Formats: sequence, C-alpha cells, structure tokens
Amino acid sequence: MKTNEIRELLRRFPKAPVGFFPTPLQRLDRLSDELGAELWIKRDDFTGIGLFGGNKIRKLQFFMADALAKGAEYVFTFGATQSNHAMQTATACRRCGLKPVLYLMSVVEPDEFPRANLLLDRVFDAEIHIVPPDFKGMLDAAHEQIARLEAEGHKCYEIPGGGAAPLGSLGYVEGWCELLDQAEAAGFAPDFIFHATGSGGTLAGLMAGRTLSGSKAKLMSVGVGADEPVQYIKNAAKLTNETLSLLGTDARVGEGDFTFLTDYYGPGYEQPNAGTDEAIKLLASREGILVDPVYSGKAFYGLLDHVRSGKLPKGSRVLFWHTGGATSLFAEPEIIGKIV
Ligand SMILES: Cc1ncc(COP(=O)(O)O)c(C=O)c1O
Repeated sequence: MKTNEIRELLRRFPKAPVGFFPTPLQRLDRLSDELGAELWIKRDDFTGIGLFGGNKIRKLQFFMADALAKGAEYVFTFGATQSNHAMQTATACRRCGLKPVLYLMSVVEPDEFPRANLLLDRVFDAEIHIVPPDFKGMLDAAHEQIARLEAEGHKCYEIPGGGAAPLGSLGYVEGWCELLDQAEAAGFAPDFIFHATGSGGTLAGLMAGRTLSGSKAKLMSVGVGADEPVQYIKNAAKLTNETLSLLGTDARVGEGDFTFLTDYYGPGYEQPNAGTDEAIKLLASREGILVDPVYSGKAFYGLLDHVRSGKLPKGSRVLFWHTGGATSLFAEPEIIGKIV
C-alpha cells in the first residue's frame, strides 16, 4: 500500500492535537563520515507538546481523543517513577483539560527532592502514587481507586503502561508513513532502523506500518530490560496483529519478522552501562543531540556496535529513530551513572 492509502485507514480514528508533526528527519553528517556509514535520525524527541517530547506523544493523540469522546475526567496510567510515558501523559492530559493520575513503581528509589520526570509530574500537578515495584499490586491499587471514583459518579480512563495498546500503536503506523514520505523526499532509503523498545507499542506500530507499506527496511529493536526474548517477540507480534486488525486489514506479521536485540541494556532496566555512556557522549559531542541513559542511549549504543563491528553489510543506510527521554539525564545518580 502507498502511504496515502494507509493514512486513509487511519482517518477514522480521531486524534487530539497534542503534538507537532512531522518531526524532523536529519542526516548525521559528522558521524556518517567518522563511522563510514550513511546515518540519519528521526527526531521524535521533538513531538512536543512542551519542551520534552518523545514517542508517547504519537500514541497519546489517539488516547486523549478517545478519553475525551468517552467523557472522561480522570486519566490513569502506570510506569516507573522516572517514566517518560507517565510524564508525557500528564502533559497531554493538562493540554486536554483532563486530570492525570499516575501510579509509579519505585524501581529506583526517588530522591527526597523530586528529579527529572518526577519533578515535571509534580509541576503538572498530577496526582502521584509511588508504589513498590510490584506490577499486580500497583494495578490492584489503581483499580480500587477507579472503582471508588466511578461509584461517586466520576468517569475514569485507563492507559496501559507505556501506552501499549493497538489504539496507541496507530500513532506509529502514522509515524511510519511520515518517515517513508520524508525519506523519499530526501532521497534516502533506510536498510536498517534502530529504536528502543520497552512496552512494545512503538515497535508494533512501526511493524504494522512496515508490513502495510511492503517496505524491506529492517527494524532493529533494542530491548531496555531483562525481557525473555521469545515471549517478548510473541507479545510484540500479537500487538502488531491487533493493530493491523484494528485498522481493518487482513495483513498479519509472524514472529520471524522481528529482530529483538538484548545485548545493550545490561545490567538492567534503569541501570547504566559503559557502552551507553560512550554512545550518549558521542552523539552529543559530534552532532549536538541528546539521548538518555535508559532508552534512546541504549538503542544508539546498539546501532554503534552494529556499525563499528561490521554486523551490518558495508554501505548500509541506517536510521536511528530517536524516541526522546533526555529528561532522564537529570534523574537520580543511579540512573545517570558515569556519563561525566
Ligand atoms: C524514551 C523512550 N524510548 C523508547 C521507549 C519504548 O517505547 P515502547 O514502550 O513503545 O516500546 C520508551 C518507553 O517508555 C521511552 O520512554
């Protein structure tokens, strides 16, 4: 399918105007010379709404429109205390006149004075519940609160952690179309696309878009935590197929379509490593672009390793999909590690 035909399928899903699109597509001139590869970047760190954008804004366009259509007053979502998704949800809610309620697991114990995303959550005056790192316990507590509020006559809307639902992934089907149109105009056709993957919602949208467009560009999805790869790919394939089905198409993906890279997140989620530190500093010092220690820095580390070690064929054209997250450069020292 052509991108305008895919966009036609997306048209029946309303979007709230919570971001700035298209985001820029840029060539990384100095790094391309230095590494002997054709490197480009898609700047989804510039999705808006405010200063701190990121990949979740693409998904939130659809969630916010759905919440408003359903007459919601409160929007609940979930993540770690330094969740980019939670912060962007708080931003989008305030832009739409909705009340954000955030359930945040203390994977890393927050400092007494809130830092980074947790500080911004406070500035947005989100209702914040910091809970122990127990996913089921967190959901149970939130569902109890939702039941209480609804019994009092309030309407609540729930967005899963990371915005991982087919409705949100539509944002990255559209992102895929945006990239193809821009790349064609720029005379660039990526062979490989590196991006960070967490909840899998971004990956599902990109993979759905790729499938519909018939593109051969390979998605290189860099994991950010200790997920079991076989199960992770199964879940990502399921979410992709649900997204394709939501769009009303018969196209489907198989697990063999996915490349899930697990060598770059160690020792764990929100835990720094030396390769990521170097990747963050290299991109900043050569191109003036910031990535973060939890997501986009780990994905860029994966890209660098593939380019330098010859894991990609010579002359490959490589795109880095920047998914945002640079607020984490101001997070707790355990998260930032030894960047400087
Ligand atoms: C900066 C950044 N990059 C990538 C991701 C991963 O996106 P997804 O949850 O859609 O897999 C996240 C998720 O929180 C993120 O904050």
